[in-house]
Amino acid sequence: MTRSILISPSILSADFARLGEEVRAIDEAGCDWVHIDVMDGHFVPNITIGPGVVKALRPHTTKPFDVHLMISPVDSYLDAFAQAGADIITVHPEAGPHIHRSVQHIKSLGVKAGVVLNPGTPAKMLDYLIDDVDLILVMSVNPGFGGQSFIENQLRKIAAIRKMIDKSGRDIRLQVDGGIDFTTAPRAIEAGADVLVAGTATFRGGAGAYADNIRKLRGG
Ligand code: DX5
Ligand code: ZN
Repeated sequence: MTRSILISPSILSADFARLGEEVRAIDEAGCDWVHIDVMDGHFVPNITIGPGVVKALRPHTTKPFDVHLMISPVDSYLDAFAQAGADIITVHPEAGPHIHRSVQHIKSLGVKAGVVLNPGTPAKMLDYLIDDVDLILVMSVNPGFGGQSFIENQLRKIAAIRKMIDKSGRDIRLQVDGGIDFTTAPRAIEAGADVLVAGTATFRGGAGAYADNIRKLRGG
């Protein structure tokens, strides 16, 4: 089966002083989704974007907002990110007491639900979530920062989850996030990923390079 490969640039690597313009630039450059990394300085050692910024960015593109929440406790913020314009909300099992409940909550808001596994979190975590999720995200770096190196053994996890998804017969996207560049992108795709998050590799070279960067990441 050939799957379409989607590119979701992480705006963590964009120029934060010109975020609206940057989102329009990646839209015009052909991205599929916009990956928004939300960090709280507690669940991860960095602080980034809140629902107010997501809301302010919403008029700048019609492409889906893929909101990766790295905040704990996460549940009390789900409504705010849905109202701000998230199309997909992805949560870490470690970020709240009841991941199954968090997934149901996201779906009840009319938003697609994703679960994200840290490098040390096993694929087995998905056994009783796979029936409900729309997206599974494999972190190929420890969350918190852009520009880190790809952790090789996550390819094995991607391959294992690809098998689980195919066996489920459900329409679930398999996303990879962290250290994705022109070398690691084809390897992640080969292992079974079909949505690539890329911050550094998308935004390198300034707006004139975004279209080329996105095309190369897609394998074109
Ligand atoms: C890390 C974030 C990533 C990050 C990826 O915590 O979840 O989305 O921005 O950055 P690169 O592509 O530079 O590794
Ligand atoms: Zn992310």
